[in-house]
Order: sequence, then structure tokens, then C-alpha cells
Amino acid sequence: MKKRVFSGIQPTGDLHIGNYLGAIQHWVKIQHEYDCIYCVVDLHAITIPQDPKTLKAKIREVAGLLIASGIDPQIASVFVQSHVHEHSELTWILNCYIPMGWMRRMTQFKEKSQKQREEVSTALFDYPALMAADILLYNTDEVPVGEDQKQHVELARDVAQRFNSIYGETFTVPRAVIAKTGARIMGLDDPTQKMSKSEEQPGRAINLLDSPDDIRNKIMRATTDSLREMRFDESRPGINNLLVIYEQFTRQAREEIEARFEGKGYVDLKRELAEVVVESLSPVQSRYRELTADPQHIDILLAEGAKKVRPTAEKTLALVKERVGLG
Ligand code: AMP
Ligand code: TRP
Repeated sequence: MKKRVFSGIQPTGDLHIGNYLGAIQHWVKIQHEYDCIYCVVDLHAITIPQDPKTLKAKIREVAGLLIASGIDPQIASVFVQSHVHEHSELTWILNCYIPMGWMRRMTQFKEKSQKQREEVSTALFDYPALMAADILLYNTDEVPVGEDQKQHVELARDVAQRFNSIYGETFTVPRAVIAKTGARIMGLDDPTQKMSKSEEQPGRAINLLDSPDDIRNKIMRATTDSLREMRFDESRPGINNLLVIYEQFTRQAREEIEARFEGKGYVDLKRELAEVVVESLSPVQSRYRELTADPQHIDILLAEGAKKVRPTAEKTLALVKERVGLG
């Protein structure tokens, strides 16, 4: 029996090379080794205000990009969270077993709510319970996530253990897996900030659907320092980030890359990097265009994805209700 892996991605903003190098590529790689379920988490997206038309389009775009990046829906399962209503239902039940104190410790809520102030929704506070439901519905063993999500996975573990100790063995206790090699890609305009889905800083991220010219312009304008030496050196975040992106896409050794650019200028590195990124994204972009040429195609794939995972979700929820004495 293969181990079960579950992970989720929000259909908000544009997917960028940070998401690709830090998460998606890893998801593609592990699909043959593990029984993988990848979920487009639209219910998480609405914890902050979303435009309905944009949200609907983004759900399909993100799913399409996952598949175009190499996730094979015949091997892994790709589905939309709101298509399987058990996620919402289990969230409510889990809420009843999560002490407020656990939730209050969640650092991401503190950060996100500071930005939103009094407009912050109750659901944003409850976000980790929904994430726990996502994970626990499918008897998940491992959850590959970024460092920022580790605390949420730990909450899922805690509530699984708590429920099991009250009612007997019900949930598989999951663990977070933080990819060690998954590089942290920084913003091109400001290499001290993580590359993120930020609309306010258009020069920050290279999006997976950016045109070749957009990619070239963003890289040529990337912030560097005034030194000359081309070295992997974290104390020089700008140049280090460009070299890391080069390394991640070409899979060359660091010494090889440093030797290649020895004595050359930053403009040479930027030009060559731009072409590497354009060429690396080109197959993803053309697969994406093929996949979305018929707008119904993605919908069919997503309906099949939901159909594949639903029986497991139904079974878990039925067991939980039985344990609690509902119905
Ligand atoms: P987010 O864009 O924050 O929803 O993250 C989706 C996934 O992409 C998570 O697994 C993150 O850890 C990963 N990710 C997001 N931004 C970066 C980045 N700049 N570098 C590496 N991985 C990232
Ligand atoms: N909260 C995660 C993020 O923003 C996305 C997510 C939702 C998720 N449910 C999940 C990740 C379950 C892993 C497992 O990145």
C-alpha cells in the first residue's frame, strides 16, 4: 500500500515560479511513489473577499496549471474542495473538538488579520479547522507544505489525536513534510521578500503564464547589488536569488554555474537566466493552452477527480458521525 499524500493550493492570485519550484515540481515528482491527492481549496479562498467571476476562472486556471506542470490526473487525484461537501461538514464537527486556545496560537491568522482589521471574517479564524478536515477526510499520512503551513498541519494532528483518544481509532494522524531541497524563491524587485502572489508589486514574481517578454523584462529589472563577483552567497540576496533560480531550472551544480559566469557581468547572467526561464515555462504554457482550448475539458477532469476521492471522504465522515452519535 502506498502512503497517502494530501496537499492544497488556493485559487487566488497568479501562480508563480516560487510556487512551481517550491511546491508543484515536488508534487509532480512524488505522484508515482505516493497515492497523491491535490486539492484546489476554493473554500479557503473565500475566507477573504473574492470577486465571484475571478474566483471561478482562477479555480480552473490553477487546476489547469497543476496538470500542465505534470500532475497526471490518471495517477494523482486533482479536485476542487467545494465539489466534495464532506469538507465543510467535517469542519463543523472538528470545530467542536478544537479548543479556542489552540486556534488563538495560529500565527498566520495574527498576520492576516492585522492587515484586514475589523473586516476579518470568522472563517479566517477557523481556516485551520477546514484545513484539518481536508487532511483528515482522506487518511492522509503526509502533507507536503511550506514552513508557513506547518503549524496548521500540527493542529490537524492534535485534533486527530484528541478525537481518537475520546472515541477510539478514527483518524490517521498526519505529519507535515517540509521539502528540504525546495528552494525559497525571493522577489525580483525586493530579494528580501518572498516571491508571492502580490498584485501590488508587478515586478515581484514571474508568473507561470507570463509572456516571454514579460519574463525578460522582469528579470532584466531585477534588483542586484553593485559588486561584481557571481557567487551563491545568502548575504547578497539579489544575485543569490537569480543564481538559485538558474540552478533550480537547469539542475546544474553550483560550482558549474559559478564557473560559467566567472568574469561576466550581471547583464549576461540576467539575459541567460531569462532564456532559461522562458524555455522552461514554454512546455507548461503550451500544455496549458492545449488543455484549456476546450473550456469544458478541465471541468470534466475536475468532476472525475472529485468522483475519485468522494468515496473515501464519505466513508470517513460516516464513521465520524457514528462515533459522535449524530443522526
Ligand atoms: P501560496 O502561494 O502561499 O499559497 O503557497 C503555495 C505553495 O507554494 C506552498 O507550498 C508554498 O510553500 C509554495 N511557495 C509559495 N511561495 C514560494 C516561494 N517564494 N518560494 C518557494 N516556495 C513557495
Ligand atoms: N493553507 C494552505 C496554503 O495556503 C492550503 C491548504 C488548504 C492545504 N488545505 C490544505 C495544504 C491541506 C495542505 C493540506 O498554502
